[in-house]
Amino acid sequence: DKGNHRHFMEKEIYEQPEIISHALSHYVDFASGSIKQKAEAIDFAKLRSLAISACGTAYLSGLVGKYWFERYARLPVEIDVASEFRYRDIPLSKDQAALFISQSGETADTLASLRYCKEEGLPIGAVVNVKESTIAREADAIFPILAGPEIGVASTKAFTCQLAVLAALSIQAGRARGILTEAQEKELVRHLIEMPRIMSKVLNLIQPQIEQLSRDLSRFKDVLYLGRGTSYPLAMEGALKLKEISYIHAEGYAAGELKHGPIALIDEHMPVIVIAPHDRFFEKTVSNMQEVAARGGKIIFITDEKGAAASKLATMATIVLPNVDEVIAPMIFALPIQLLAYHTAVFMGTDVDQPRNLAKSVTVE
Ligand code: M6R
Repeated sequence: DKGNHRHFMEKEIYEQPEIISHALSHYVDFASGSIKQKAEAIDFAKLRSLAISACGTAYLSGLVGKYWFERYARLPVEIDVASEFRYRDIPLSKDQAALFISQSGETADTLASLRYCKEEGLPIGAVVNVKESTIAREADAIFPILAGPEIGVASTKAFTCQLAVLAALSIQAGRARGILTEAQEKELVRHLIEMPRIMSKVLNLIQPQIEQLSRDLSRFKDVLYLGRGTSYPLAMEGALKLKEISYIHAEGYAAGELKHGPIALIDEHMPVIVIAPHDRFFEKTVSNMQEVAARGGKIIFITDEKGAAASKLATMATIVLPNVDEVIAPMIFALPIQLLAYHTAVFMGTDVDQPRNLAKSVTVE
C-alpha cells in the first residue's frame, strides 16, 4: 500500500525517520545512551581486519562503513563489490571476520562471497533486511536493518538503515578495541538518537526546492557527482540512484580525482553535484568546485549552513541542510540525493518503482 504517495519509492523515502528510529532502538539503549552489545559471533576486540562485500547500494553503504570502522575503531577494512570479491583469490586468515550487506539477503554474488569466506573459516556477519533470507541463514551473526519491506527497485530506506546499523557496529567495535571512551560513545550515540528528528525536518525543508531543481536537471544527459570522505560513497550512491530511475547518465567520483580525468568533461552541458558538509574535507572540496566553476561548469551544491556561509561561489542551486555531526551526515545527506533522483524521474515520466532492465533481487550472477 502506497498510502497517499504516488510511488513506493516516495513512500519509502518519507518513512525513513520513523523506520530508522525503530532500527536504532535495536542497537542503541535510548535510556543509557549507549550501544547494545550485538555481535556474539564476532569478537571485534581481537580482529586484525574486517572484510566487507556487497553489491550496488549495499556496497556503497559498506564503503561508508569502512570509513567509520577505520576512524572509530581503528579496524582496517577490506571492501569490494561481491562480483570481484568472490573471484579475486583474496588471502584471508582466521583473525579476520567477514561482513555481508544485502537488503534482500539473496544476491547471488554476495552469497557466493559469503560461502567463500565461510570455507576459509572466518566468522560471518550479515547486515540484512530479510531475516529469513539465505544470507541471513548462513551467517553466524545477523544484524537486521529492520527497514520493513522495500518495494521500490531503487533502494532508499534500506540504504539509510544499513548506514545506521553500520554506524552502531563501528561504535561498538571502537569501544571493544579500546579506541573510543565511554564519553565518546555517548556523544556519538546522542547524535544517532537525534537523527530521526533531523531527517523529518530535512525532508520537509528541501522538498519544494528539490522538486523545482529536478525540472532543470531532467534536461541534461550527463551529471557528475563529487564528494570526499564519507561523501564520496554518497556521491556514487547519488549517481546510481539517478541513472537507475531517470536514465540520466551519472558518475560519482572522489572529488580529489577530478583533475585525474573527469575535469576534461566539464562544460555547461554537464551539471556537477557537489556533496560537501562543512567537515574536515570542506576546503579541499571547495577548491575542486572552483576548478569546475573556472571551466564554466554548472554546480549544484549540497551543503550545510556553515558550508553555505563559507563558500562564495556562484551555483546553479545550493541546497542547505542543517549543521549535523559527522557521524550522521551520510544519512542526512542521503535524503537530497534520493529526492533529486525521485523527482527527476517523475518529471521524465519513467516507471519509478520498476525501472527498465532492473530486478529488485538479483539472484543470478
Ligand atoms: O538485495 P541487495 O541489497 O543485495 O541488492 C544489491 C543491489 O542489487 C541493490 O542495492 C541495487 O543496486 C539497487 N537497485 C540500488 O538502488
